[in-house]
Amino acid sequence: MAKAIQSIRGFADILPERTPTWRFVEQSIQEVLGAYGYEEIRLPYLEQTDLFARSIGEVTDIVEKEMYSFEDRNGESLSLRPEGTAGCVRAGIQHGLFHGRQPRLWYGGAMFRYERPQKGRYRQFHQIGAEVFGLAGPDIDAEMILMTGRMLRAIGLDDAELQLNTLGTVEARAAYRARLVEYFEQYPERLDDDSKRRLSTNPLRILDSKNPDMQDIIADAPSLMDHLDDESRAHFDAVQAALRASGLSFQVNPRLVRGLDYYTRTVFEWVSDRLGAQGTVCAGGRYDGLVEQIGGRPTPAIGFAVGLERLVTLVEESVGAHASPAPHAYLVALGDGVQAAALALGERLRDALPGLRLQANAGGGSAKSQFKRADRSGAPVALVVAEEELAAGEVTVKPLRGEGEQQRVDESTLVQLLDDYIKAG
Ligand code: HAM
Repeated sequence: MAKAIQSIRGFADILPERTPTWRFVEQSIQEVLGAYGYEEIRLPYLEQTDLFARSIGEVTDIVEKEMYSFEDRNGESLSLRPEGTAGCVRAGIQHGLFHGRQPRLWYGGAMFRYERPQKGRYRQFHQIGAEVFGLAGPDIDAEMILMTGRMLRAIGLDDAELQLNTLGTVEARAAYRARLVEYFEQYPERLDDDSKRRLSTNPLRILDSKNPDMQDIIADAPSLMDHLDDESRAHFDAVQAALRASGLSFQVNPRLVRGLDYYTRTVFEWVSDRLGAQGTVCAGGRYDGLVEQIGGRPTPAIGFAVGLERLVTLVEESVGAHASPAPHAYLVALGDGVQAAALALGERLRDALPGLRLQANAGGGSAKSQFKRADRSGAPVALVVAEEELAAGEVTVKPLRGEGEQQRVDESTLVQLLDDYIKAG
């Protein structure tokens, strides 16, 4: 026997026992997006590497070491998308979606990052993300955050914590960045290698460090809040006031800086404490400079993405996995001569009854083995066709669970009987 081939590390198969929970999560989220007037956009999985370098940032972890990049046959550098915002902005500019309009868009699908796999972190993972363009005020920030709260409640997740911060304008952040470098440079011996490197590339990310030996100097670092420009401060106050007015509680976390460079002003994350280290289930923020940065007219924007693997795991661990619905009926065909007639019966029943889930036996088998399969299918009844039924133009209906008598009925009675099963769910 040839050696079996395994999937790639960090690339998971989602098996049938889990897909109903995936669909529940995806559909619940999509319904909420619909309730707020968002429209779906479908974006390519592969883009020019340059798009991600220019948007996410050259010196971010994602672009520096996590992208699946390769040269195509023409020598052009392409990358599998590590996230959806950059592609969405690129598409919006390319198709003129931002001219005189304020589109509210959502997308879903796989994203790819070469990270170290662990619980809640994969190399291929799935997001549903949303982006709004052309609106600069704090009202859309607040509405979007309220919408993410509603999404989490829709899947039964009501214990995640909302963390909120503001990163101010690009200018305010540059001034703060300089202050931060000055501060950390006082403690060269306390910084780990990663942080030393970030001091010249991305010093704000030092605030994100989980290194326990650095927590005290991080705690005493100057706060971005103290370097905010007045407009950003007013914007942040208005976002908070709107959230309070709708009764959504949150925690202001001045250390929340996010791992992508494009953010300005509002940033937020929903964090669950039931997932260990990878507890962020939803994250996003405003990125007012990005559209211009990648070649469009200046256009304010804000967005977020949820991590579906993490949400599905939380649903499975709290309320349990959703199950695939059982068939309404299992069709048993007894005798060699009746196979084709049984198939044809199945087609007529599905024509007559939209929504019918009918699993027909295939591959023959004795009555015993066919009833065993019927039972295993979870269907409440078996429909039995043998020579005798065929000759009479009838079908035997045999209840597989609970009470109920076996009966022989003609096809129109059968349609009515099955209709009752469909109505019952
Ligand atoms: P992000 O924080 O990089 O933001 O990812 C958003 C969410 O995707 C995370 O909170 C997490 O739930 C999930 N996620 C990220 N990496 C992984 C992974 N390796 N395995 C499993 N789940 C993961 C963005 O991607 C931004 N594009 C969000 C955004 C949209 N900001 C503005 N618009």
